[in-house]
Amino acid sequence: MNPFLIQIPFFPEQASNFAFEIDLFYILLFALTAFFTVLIGVAAVYFLVKYRRRSQGEVPEQIEGHLKLEITWTVIPFVISMFIFAWGAKLYYQMYTPPTDALEIFVTGKQWMWRAQHPDGQREINELHVPLGRRVKLTMTSEDVIHSYYIPAFRTKTDVVPGRYTVSWFTPTKTGTYHLFCAEYCGTQHSGMIGKVTVMEYSDYQAWLRGVPRDKSPAEAGEQLFTSLACVNCHLENNKGRGPSLLNLFGTEVKLANGATVKADETYLRESILNPGAKTVAGYANDMPTFQGLVTEEQVAMIIQYIKSIGPRQGEAGTTTTPASAAPAPAAQGVGRPAPPQAAKPAAPQGEQPRQD
Ligand code: CUA
Repeated sequence: MNPFLIQIPFFPEQASNFAFEIDLFYILLFALTAFFTVLIGVAAVYFLVKYRRRSQGEVPEQIEGHLKLEITWTVIPFVISMFIFAWGAKLYYQMYTPPTDALEIFVTGKQWMWRAQHPDGQREINELHVPLGRRVKLTMTSEDVIHSYYIPAFRTKTDVVPGRYTVSWFTPTKTGTYHLFCAEYCGTQHSGMIGKVTVMEYSDYQAWLRGVPRDKSPAEAGEQLFTSLACVNCHLENNKGRGPSLLNLFGTEVKLANGATVKADETYLRESILNPGAKTVAGYANDMPTFQGLVTEEQVAMIIQYIKSIGPRQGEAGTTTTPASAAPAPAAQGVGRPAPPQAAKPAAPQGEQPRQD
């Protein structure tokens, strides 16, 4: 958070936990660049004039080197660049280590729109509503080409890539409406792939959730897909099916047929649905058909949410503790609010209302 609460000229508004520190970092980079540009430019002009040739055939004095000077101009840039590296690496690590207790929203990019789905099933297009002061994690993928989810006021920009999940997280720190852009050229209407991010007080967010026509939650929809796609016939919960049981799977380490282990996260589950042979579980035959082309990315996300819902509760799986949960980032701590009360679910489904899309 910006302790001075002043708007820096030429910068977008600061509306997330990352914004102030990233602005400081940019100001440092800009100031260093400006300082050395001026220093070198002025010195070059000064020496050009001072040591110009004054007569035909003038031979300059020969200089053999100067150890102290050479050490100085090596050590100072080294220290400066290591400082930039250390600070940049710390920021990068914070931004790419989402906390495990975040509100999780799935985002799908598609030429040329952004879809978002909230944990209880509310969907929106080219908009994103998020609660003030809560950690929010976006799990994102694309239905076609590479897009990039860019919220300048949050200082977050993350590529959205077909075939894999990317993750972005932030804690909104200021209510208001902010720009959402696609920041990766993705076709003729790339410049129109824009939207709004609305940060609301938590109670307003709850009210907003209640007002949005809602279908099933992603987990409920995923459970239905699990049955309709016949996954349930092989993945028996008693571990006696042709496929492994998916009960209490999410977040745990899985032993593979080739002896390696892999963490059962979103990326692994997605791969196992679309390319089941890639990582066969130890003790099982590689005979699951691919579901590539049979399910959309949104449906894959729903099935994953279902598997999560029957897994250990978030953050409780044996080996899933990430550094972010063990020691919350200082920036995130400053928000000082309890985890979102996930139990406070909106009212029951409101009948057969049309889906938002
Ligand atoms: Cu999507 Cu540019």
